[in-house]
Amino acid sequence: MLAYNIHHVAIAVESIDDAIAGYESLYNITPISRETVEEQGVSEAMIAVGGSHIQLLEPLTPESPIGRFLSQNGEGMHHIAFAVSNIEAALAHLKSRGAKLIDETPRIGGGGHRIAFVHPKELAGTLVELVEVDHV
Ligand code: CO
Repeated sequence: MLAYNIHHVAIAVESIDDAIAGYESLYNITPISRETVEEQGVSEAMIAVGGSHIQLLEPLTPESPIGRFLSQNGEGMHHIAFAVSNIEAALAHLKSRGAKLIDETPRIGGGGHRIAFVHPKELAGTLVELVEVDHV
């Protein structure tokens, strides 16, 4: 199996603070990490839920990818991320199947993980992120 877990489901939000307050109030769950990823133009927070996470994404500027997503779609689900143990192998596999890749080679995402995005046209309009993590 190429993807062995859902690493996170990412939600684009106008305000991470407001979103966190909502998750704390309604579900009594709090972030395990917060960071700014300048190269992606986002502030992000990770909320652990079981073996997976909710990733909250707030744009640093309106011109960033998440800023543009919010202005076009409003708040809501932005992508799902699959955990993979070898991102090069996963990308090679997807390429061999003719999948349209947004990232042909991995880049560094939140938490220092190597990540790559797969075009939403490959999965019913769902943007997919691959996250390389140690297989546990
Ligand atoms: Co993500």
